[in-house]
Amino acid sequence: MPLLFRRVKDLRNHLRSLRCDKGFSIGFVPTMGYLHEGHEALIRKSKVQNDVTVVSIYVNPTQFGPSEDYDRYPRDLERDMALCEDLGVDVVFAPPDEEMYPMGFQTEVYVKGLSDILEGKFRPGHFKGVATVVLKLLNIVQPDRAYFGEKDYQQLKVIETMVRDLLLPVEIVPVETVREPDGLACSSRNVYLSKEERESALSLYRSFLVAEDLISKGERRAEVIKKKMEEFILSHPHVTKVDYVEITDPDLRPKERVEKGDRILLAVWVGSTRLIDNWKVSL
Ligand code: PAF
Repeated sequence: MPLLFRRVKDLRNHLRSLRCDKGFSIGFVPTMGYLHEGHEALIRKSKVQNDVTVVSIYVNPTQFGPSEDYDRYPRDLERDMALCEDLGVDVVFAPPDEEMYPMGFQTEVYVKGLSDILEGKFRPGHFKGVATVVLKLLNIVQPDRAYFGEKDYQQLKVIETMVRDLLLPVEIVPVETVREPDGLACSSRNVYLSKEERESALSLYRSFLVAEDLISKGERRAEVIKKKMEEFILSHPHVTKVDYVEITDPDLRPKERVEKGDRILLAVWVGSTRLIDNWKVSL
């Protein structure tokens, strides 16, 4: 079993001795738990690149809006610990709220611009919550490398920018999105979907194939591609709303004409579940 820590002080003491006395390198995988194959890929990569792998499991309240799914977000520490054991994780950090947000907590991290577009428009305050908790976790663990999935592409960009701007001594390692065999991107929120909704949720992945097909036939106008994708997604039962379909360059600047390496990002409601996904244009 991995060692389980609940308190910042205890984890710091343990990691200090691994880092300073033994000279071990530390890889860090921050998560909100209910681990899936996407997390597995992050953990496996950390295991290859570091002597010690630390996983945090913390459902961070500050990144959820008031009407979002904080209360029903899936939680199962026992199951997560068993999975971490199978994967050879060395340390799990699962703090209670009062450890992460002590009384009188006043400080937030805001990555301007990037936090306010796409997801940020629909989830005001979300990336402030993410950047703040990730900075705190990085300060606690002080890893050599930290691993983030491209599934949350905008989150990855926000964190890369924060690390660059605040001169944090950590390497951010992006890991490609892991998909189920039928194309659905792995996500802890997939458990909310009924069988029928899951079938309609495949329209997100398949809309990327629609886009690739249009592009391979010579279409380059982002507006046309986005419109076709949206129509395709909305033609599926249980899809209640498309929040956005956007095409950007790798740094999330909107594009009018599509090129290789651009990103297509979308957020879609299937039943009462909001799903996000993104795709790198391959041409
Ligand atoms: O991607 C997640 O699971 C969360 O946003 C993160 C990075 C663990 C911060 O709470």
